[in-house]
Amino acid sequence: MTSRLNIPAPAVIKPPKTSAVAPLAEAERARLNARIKHLLKERDAVLVAHYYVDEDLQRLAEDTGGCVADSLEMARFGHAHRARTLVVAGVRFMGETAKILNPEKRVLMPTLQAECSLDLGCPASQFIPFCDAHPERQVVVYSNTSAEVKARADWVVTSSIAVKLIEHLKARGEKILWAPDKHLGNYIQRITGADMLLWNATCVVHDEFKAQALTALKRQHPDAAVIAHPESPAAVLELADVIGSTSQLIQAAKNLPQQKIIVATDRGIFYKMKQAAPQKIFMVAPTAGEGASCESCAHCPWMEMNALENLAQVLETGANEIHVEESTRIKALRATQRMLDFAASIAQVNRGD
Ligand code: 13P
Ligand code: SF4
Repeated sequence: MTSRLNIPAPAVIKPPKTSAVAPLAEAERARLNARIKHLLKERDAVLVAHYYVDEDLQRLAEDTGGCVADSLEMARFGHAHRARTLVVAGVRFMGETAKILNPEKRVLMPTLQAECSLDLGCPASQFIPFCDAHPERQVVVYSNTSAEVKARADWVVTSSIAVKLIEHLKARGEKILWAPDKHLGNYIQRITGADMLLWNATCVVHDEFKAQALTALKRQHPDAAVIAHPESPAAVLELADVIGSTSQLIQAAKNLPQQKIIVATDRGIFYKMKQAAPQKIFMVAPTAGEGASCESCAHCPWMEMNALENLAQVLETGANEIHVEESTRIKALRATQRMLDFAASIAQVNRGD
């Protein structure tokens, strides 16, 4: 008989206030772009960026042989690339995942202040005892977690493979302990019918999308499709034509027959969506309306901390290196490598190998 621990009350995570920064003068942008390109070569470094960071950084990653991707592909790309330094433009868990997989490489980030509310909402000090109280469950954690939390997990997943992994575990008769995103956990539970015990954190960006205002926007644009990231609340997902990870949403934006697309995810993704479907019109799903005050307004305040200036600076100085304590890294590697292996097995099945 095991003792049961209640899930701690959800932490109230306030996104940092980002003050509006004056756009860089064109000459300064050009200078920084040229300097970064030069330094990437000189330092044997490659830029790995998430779709939510500033489009200047996304363009630089594309132009210099780096990658702009979802969190799974960022991990996979960094692991496979031969560069000795990975520069990760995103939030801290992405840099840590890169270090967990690549201890021999130097991992730098433009800022070490870029957090994630899901990571902050699942502290290892609370999560580990909770897992210990449920030893009969497989612990599956979203990649948006600290290295310490990954070290306690059986599996790490990202949104692009989460449904498939839970289906796989359910078929093996496993019960799941899922953390940290409750909306994503609920969504997977509804689809798979798996026995899932859910942690209760949320993403400060996706949690703000509002179903009522979205219904009103759909009424104004009956010819528009709605696409949503599964970190959004259930009532928003119910209104969506396509639900998926950031990469899957870009694919959907391209493949859907509709010319207008309402997007319930961070608006940083519009850079890639417009590239994939230049003739289409993209609208941000509403985050305000009916008593709501949007704090993040469909843009992650932590992703926004990545900029040309701090990217150039870390390449110059080698500052902001990510370190993960070795015994934690080794434990976290087990569950993180399982994620990559599982993703590779799905890709193999999809290719029909
Ligand atoms: P993806 O894995 O879909 O890129 O999501 C990461 C994330 O932080 C979404 O908010
Ligand atoms: Fe975390 Fe949400 Fe920002 Fe993604 S958008 S990094 S889940 S806070």
